[in-house]
Order: sequence, then C-alpha cells, then structure tokens
Amino acid sequence: MPPHFVRRFLLIASLSFFVLPAAHPQDAAPRSQFRGLPVMSKLADPSIETRVEALLKQMTLEEKVGQLVQYSIGTPAGPGTGRGDYLEMIEKGQVGSLFNLEDARAANHFQHIAVEKSRLHIPLLYGLDVIHGYRTEFPVPLGLASTWDPQIVEQAARIAAQEASAAGVRWTFSPMVDIARDPRWGRMIEGAGEDPYLGSVMARAYVRGYQGTNLSAPDSIAACVKHYVGYGAAEGGRDYNSTEISEHTLREVYLRPFYAALDEGGASVMSAFNALDGVPTTANPFTLKQILRTEWHFPGLVVSDFDSVGELVAHGIANDGETAARKALAAGVDMDMESNLYHENLLNLVKSGMISKAQIDEAVRHVLRVKFALGLFDQPYTDETRENHGPLAKQNLDVARVAAERSFVMLRNEVVGSRAVLPLSGEVHTVALIGPLADDAGQMLGSWGAHGQATDVVTLKSALTQRLGAGRVHYAKGGEILTATDEEISAAVAAVQSADVAILALGENAGEMTAEAASRAHLDLPGRQEELLEKVSATGKPVVLVLFSGRPLTLTWAFTHVPAVLAAWFPGIQAGPALVRTLYGESVPSGKLVVSWPHSIGQIPNYYNALNTGRPAGNTDLTRPPKEGTEKYVSRYVDEPNAPQFPFGYGLTYTEFRYSAPEMSTTKLSAKKLTDDLHARTTDTKQVMTVSVNVTNAGKVAAEEVVQLYVGLRGTSVEEPGRALKAFERVTLAPGETQKVTFSLSPEAFALWDLRNRRKVEPCRANIWVSPDSQHGQPLALEITD
Ligand code: NOJ
Repeated sequence: MPPHFVRRFLLIASLSFFVLPAAHPQDAAPRSQFRGLPVMSKLADPSIETRVEALLKQMTLEEKVGQLVQYSIGTPAGPGTGRGDYLEMIEKGQVGSLFNLEDARAANHFQHIAVEKSRLHIPLLYGLDVIHGYRTEFPVPLGLASTWDPQIVEQAARIAAQEASAAGVRWTFSPMVDIARDPRWGRMIEGAGEDPYLGSVMARAYVRGYQGTNLSAPDSIAACVKHYVGYGAAEGGRDYNSTEISEHTLREVYLRPFYAALDEGGASVMSAFNALDGVPTTANPFTLKQILRTEWHFPGLVVSDFDSVGELVAHGIANDGETAARKALAAGVDMDMESNLYHENLLNLVKSGMISKAQIDEAVRHVLRVKFALGLFDQPYTDETRENHGPLAKQNLDVARVAAERSFVMLRNEVVGSRAVLPLSGEVHTVALIGPLADDAGQMLGSWGAHGQATDVVTLKSALTQRLGAGRVHYAKGGEILTATDEEISAAVAAVQSADVAILALGENAGEMTAEAASRAHLDLPGRQEELLEKVSATGKPVVLVLFSGRPLTLTWAFTHVPAVLAAWFPGIQAGPALVRTLYGESVPSGKLVVSWPHSIGQIPNYYNALNTGRPAGNTDLTRPPKEGTEKYVSRYVDEPNAPQFPFGYGLTYTEFRYSAPEMSTTKLSAKKLTDDLHARTTDTKQVMTVSVNVTNAGKVAAEEVVQLYVGLRGTSVEEPGRALKAFERVTLAPGETQKVTFSLSPEAFALWDLRNRRKVEPCRANIWVSPDSQHGQPLALEITD
C-alpha cells in the first residue's frame, strides 16, 4: 500500500475505533471473522472523554508531542539520552512522563513546574518498575505465581501500589505477562511461567491490586502490561533476540495474558524489544493496531520499552531516527520511553505530512485518558507525609511472609532413616547452615528491588539463629556465589560434621544472573557451589538444599543424591521467617511449579502444553537408546528422555492428598451453543458444566492443595495441546478431611483459534483431567457435538 493509503487506512481505523462504543462484539466483526471480545475498560468513560477533547482543542502541536515524550530521571535502566535540561523542557510542556524518581519530594518538585509553569498545566505521569513490591519486597513474580494464589498476588500488588503512590509513583511497569518456555532467558523470573491460563489469572490479580477499584484514588497506580508481545520466545533464550511465532500460537498462547490484564482494566501496555516474525514489536501495526485497537478496542496508553524506538535503527527497519519515530508512532506506540526521537522528530514529521495531526491527536488521547483516569488533573501532588521512612507495617510483613511460604515448591523430600528429612524433627539439635545465600540480605530482594532495603530483610541465618540460638547454628558460608577457596569449602564441611543436619542455601546471583540482560547458556549452580554441595553430602549427614534461583536449574546430581530440595526462588524481605517456618513444618509447602523443570539444557524448550506430534513417544522407554524401529521413529532424543525433571504443576507437601475419580455434570455439549455463548458478552459468567472431585488429606497435618483441571481437545481443525490448564483451586484440608472441589467450566475451557484464526468451539472429543499436576490423573471423556 502506498504511504498515503496506509495513513488513510490507519486514520479510518483509529477513527472508527474512537466512534465505536465497545458494544456487542458482532458490531466489531462479523461472526465469520470473530476474533474475540473487546476488552472491558473504564478509561474511555464519557466524562473523561469530554475533558480529553476539551484539552486537546487547546493544545499546540508542540504541547501534544510533549505528552508523548518520557525520560528516566534517576538510575538508568539502559542507555540514556544524555539530556539534562528536563526542567526547561517540563516548563515548555515538552515532557509527558518521567520515571525512576527518588521520592515524593522529587515528584512534587517536578510536578510543581509542570502544573504551575507550563502553559496548560498538564501534570506529569510518574512511572517506576514496581515489579514485586516497592519497599515491602515480595517474592519475585515467578515465585508469586508459584503460589497459585491470585488473592495473595493481588494483596501484594495493592501494598506495592500504596507504597509506590506515597512516593509519587502512579504508574508501574508491571505486570510482566510474557509467557516463558525457556529458562535460559533471564526474564523468566519476572513473569508467571509457561501457561497462558495461569498467566492470565495472575495478570488479572496484579491489575486489580495495582489499580484498586478506583484508579483515581490517591493510592492506586496504573498498570503497564508488558512486553507486548512474544518477547519471552527469544530464540535460544538470549535476551532481546528475535522471535518467530505463528499467528495461531500468538493468539493461543502469548496474547492471552495481555488480553486478560487489559480486560481487567489495565491502563497501559509496553511494547517490547523483540522483532516478531521479522517486524519489531515497537513498530508492529498488526499487534499494536489490528489486535490491540481494532479487535480489543483498547483505549489506553502504549509506551515503548527503554529506547526501543531508537533500536528500530539497529533492527534495520529505519536508517535514521526520524524514520524510527515515524514507524513507531504510525504503528501505534504513543509514548517514547527515553529514545528522545519523538521529541526530536514528530514536529517535523507532521510538518512534512509524513505523520498526520490526527495520528498525533490519537496518541495524545491515549496518554490524557490515563492521566485523567488517575485523577492527576484534580490532584497532581503527592501527600509527602504518606511516605513511610520508618518500620514497615506488621500486616504488610505478614502478607510478604505468607506469600513467600506459599511460593516455595518442595521438589524432593526423601526418607532418610525412618522419616522424611522435612520437616526437621524436634530431635535435630544442631544445624549446619552453609552457603553464600544463607545470610545475603540483598539477594533476597530479587531481581527488581525497586526501593527495597536490605536492612528490612530477615535472612535465613538470622531467622534460624533466632529460633535455635546461636549455639545450635553452625554457620559457614562456604564461599561466594561465583568463587570459593579450598579453605572455605573445607570449613563448611567441618561445620557439617559437627551438626545433625546440613541446610545449604545455594543458587544464582539475582542481580547478575536473572532478569533483564541475564540469559544463561548453562543452568547449573554457579561457581564452586556444586562441589560444595557434593562435599557436604559426602559427610553422610542429611542435607536440605534451599535453592534460590530465578529459573529452574539443571541439577541432575542433586536431584538424585540430595534428599530434600526446596525451590525458594528469591523470597523477598520475609525470606528467613518463611523458610524457617517451612523447614520446621509450621508452614506446609503448597507451591507448585509454573514452569516445567527440565532435566537438561538439550530438552529446552520443554513445556507441558506441547502438541502431541504425529509420532508421540507414548509409552516408549526413553531411558535408553532405541533398539528397533517402533522405539526409534518417534519424537524423542536418543540420549535423553522427553519428560522434564519435574512437570508443570508439580510440588510436594508434608501430607498426602488422595483424589477420587472425578465426575462431570454432562457427557455431551453442543459446539454451536458453546460458540454462541462464547460470542456473547456473558462469556465470563456463562457456566456450561461442572466437574467435581473429592480430595482427601490422608496425612497427619493440615495442608493446602492446588487442585488442577486440564482439558485436551481431539479431532479439531488445528492441533491442540495434549492437555491445557483451564481451572484450579487452592483448598485447605485438615488431617483426614475430605472436600468436594467443584469446577464450573465456561465455553472458554473448550475454545480454540481455528484454521483461519477465528475464536470458536469445534465439534470434537474433549478429555478432562482433575489432578495434582500436569502429568497425573485419568481423563474423563466429553463429546462436543455439532
Ligand atoms: C527495560 C525493561 O525491558 C522494562 O521491563 C522496564 O520496564 C524498562 N526498562 C524501564 O525500566
């Protein structure tokens, strides 16, 4: 299409979006092309629209461009602009948003300039990466997701919102909802793992927590759902790398948590760094316009990632900054984070006719809607007395501790002697506490510390010492994460020899090996920690490995030789108390894996909801090389099983849960009826059948179980995953108690994106499992007729 056609098309598309009320989906697309429902959003509220339009009329083009410009003013999170004249720019109305500010005082300082000195008094919007807490740091997002507890995630996000807003921050660059199937990718730690359903539930929980029931309340902050889209599929797990995702998989997997977060009312979206099918996501009209605006009717703000507009040059789709700015804006990126290119080029681009005034207006509308919805025009300043410089509130610490306890996933707990190693028995008198992470407060803050302070952290060492008394804790660090001397290792082994049990706190360095720009090609224990573990184990004392990491690690030896292993992720400020209560059984492990835990790097990507293939390995023995044809010509490795070390949904506890055979309320459903229900606005509430199971706590301690429901569809127009999570519930059971868990399923549980990428339910056979993880259970068969 020649450029003027493209512009006209975009203009018509954006205008039609604007005049179309988010009404019945059939208004948006004829049934035959049904692409899903518009998201629910309160941002395009009529009273806000009136104010947006009135303000827009008064704005000069320069002032409009100013609203589309954002700079980092604190610690840089990437290459900076080198600018220092922000004050002057704010006064001239040339800046719409700042991020990385220090505190409420700084926020008010700049806000006074924007509101009092700029011509139209438009307030600034302050952003920050508040990812798993502001000062009260909770477990990292991968840990929070491992709780399978949206309520606690919502509470954590609410506390983060209260603290951040008290510091003037009204916009967090969270939740990160990228589906991650490759643990080499450091940013797996920032998301909810590999599953689109669980990811969607968590995405909604974050948005509810941050935004509260009313975005304009002074303690609510706008969510920014990121990184749009497909960033988690970085080839080879290497950060910023390209992604190739079919439209089908994009819709089935990667887009789903974004849709959920925006449907929950999420106010903004961040475009990503990656190219998607050859088109950088910061200049991708298909994802930014077609899906986000035309199909979903999203009325909020799209911000670029840090300099991702500038990076369009490195991507090779722009040979200069002007083209980069033009392509990003035209594709639908409203605000330019840090590259400075909108500031430098948009005015000229409008003057030369390469960008229309209407395109600018549309982008400005998106920004202003969020500012109005936040109530910034009515109350631009922050009450500085709300900022807490003193001790943290007890009730917030309790949420941090409970969240940490629920995030732990017990991977192994073997019997040594006459009982399982965990929980530690009262007879254990002396504990050797070993490892570089046993007393490192800073590490417990995880990958995005925001304003978390190491002095707020209670480490494992301090909590254990508090419980047992210093005399009963033999602490030896055993070296650093990356280095250790022979003497340090020997001292650790000596400490273990005089103790009843050894607890080893080992793992990754959160700051250097997890999150952004921290991909790893090797997923073992860094430095000499494996050697330390093996030498300590050689003493013959029972060993508990507490593993701190932002991803699964391929610890083959440990998973065969170490009797007890607890995946603790990075648990936040209440790491110590949560761990000690868990090790001693006052808290019973209930976390479950949200990513498949691979055996070896060669298996990656290894995710549970994979397609079956035409030659599934089935019951073939994969522990040895194939002996003959039927063993050989299946989808397998000749030197490694397909199954992961631990499957998605897996996690041990201190009791035993028994599941009855599940029952369902019907054995037949109609595809046409389900599709009609799916297309109706009532989708969320329309329940079409129930599936129940009795779960019994057959052990001696009260515990919580996450009961999971999976569906697999066979006989459909497109190949569907063998099984896919569709519902789950966390239940608490007293010893001996049986509870009936009933799942109500909506048409969504059976929906797919068909051959032509339309959302529907097809006639097929559905298998339904209710199980404790993604590998067990006997399926029930349901027929979906025409
Ligand atoms: C780059 C990261 O990719 C993004 O997640 C973050 O929000 C921005 N920097 C701002 O710090």
